[in-house]
Amino acid sequence: MLCFVQKDRAVGSKKQNAEKIVLSSLAGKAGPRVPFWLMRQAGRYLPEYRAVRKKAGSFLDLCFNPEFAADVTLQPVRRFGTDAAILFSDILVVPYAMGQTLDFVEGEGPRLGALENRAALDRLSFDEKKLAPVYETVKKVRHAFDTESTLLDKTLIGFAGAPWTVACYMIEGKGDREFIDVRKYALAQEEAFGGLISRLTAATIAYLSGQIRAGAEAVQVFDSWAGLLPEPMFRKWVVAPTREIVAALKKDFPDTPVIGFPRGAGGLYGLYVRETGVTGVSLDTSVPLSWAVKDFGKGKCLQGNLDPVTLLAGGPALDAEIKRILTDAGAQPFIFNLGHGIIKETPVEHVARLAELVRGFSR
Ligand code: CP3
Repeated sequence: MLCFVQKDRAVGSKKQNAEKIVLSSLAGKAGPRVPFWLMRQAGRYLPEYRAVRKKAGSFLDLCFNPEFAADVTLQPVRRFGTDAAILFSDILVVPYAMGQTLDFVEGEGPRLGALENRAALDRLSFDEKKLAPVYETVKKVRHAFDTESTLLDKTLIGFAGAPWTVACYMIEGKGDREFIDVRKYALAQEEAFGGLISRLTAATIAYLSGQIRAGAEAVQVFDSWAGLLPEPMFRKWVVAPTREIVAALKKDFPDTPVIGFPRGAGGLYGLYVRETGVTGVSLDTSVPLSWAVKDFGKGKCLQGNLDPVTLLAGGPALDAEIKRILTDAGAQPFIFNLGHGIIKETPVEHVARLAELVRGFSR
């Protein structure tokens, strides 16, 4: 009985003042409860995702089907009560909209059409109309957040890949751990590479602006391969384009927070935060949280950084790590997340346990 009363009250109070605690954290507040969402929270570890994926056909068919993509975006919010949903799409839809062929090969990952020479690079041209279905997905999810009583306090996060990371896939044509050819190209053909980065920067600004106009309440810029670059190249290909993206978005959408994720940046995290102007920063697993709080946490929202392998393993180590991270975050404006995406073999019960512990923590 008591349960019912509390539940009714909670729903009632939500309706009156549905505080979006992800947005509060990004605005620099540290309330009693720490909000959470997880990178790749919609994906193959969820049976309900696999069911929709099967109905949709290919991965790209799913990304470009607004009804299915909105459904999948909402799945982890409905199942685990995550405080945010991240739009279901992929960073590689931008090269696709620029005219590069894109295919996701089962069990192998993305394959992009070869760019044989400078002329092939110069032929690429961003056609935003190709991304209209993604904006449609954003509208659908936002409508659910604005109208369903249990979702009024949820935040919709849009995203794009950062120019450097997207360029890695475009030039390599597939995933890789090192992207040596791309790094060599950026050094040997700096002018041509710079031209590609400029065009990606403009396309990314247009794409994120479109998502915000459609209803995204915050955006995250994924620079998954930022950690491959030495400082001078990091400044040129990671910091400068990100600064340009942040400045353009802040000008047109001053109230929309931008989260940066320069994965692997290590000792350059502070430089990234100070020089790009991001509102918040997502920390990869290797970043000591207490160092981040002291070194560049002031006036910023930090996000992260549970090891996805710890989530995969579960058990007492998972409980201990969640508690450690929440404790180390202290009074810092903070969003609990992983240090990288969920691994597809992760048992759903481990994610449910994470949700229970983070939600139950009070500071
Ligand atoms: O839940 C979410 O996080 C939202 C959706 C999302 C996906 N990809 C769906 C996806 C997001 C935010 C991304 C970002 C993304 N995509 C990144 C940056 C983050 C990171 O992981 O570093 C990168 C590098 C990509 C490119 C990409 N997409 C690769 C390399 C792969 C293959 C690897 C794999 O896991 O298979 C993808 C495919 C992909 N993107 C899947 C999902 C759910 C799996 C495809 C499937 O369902 O068959």
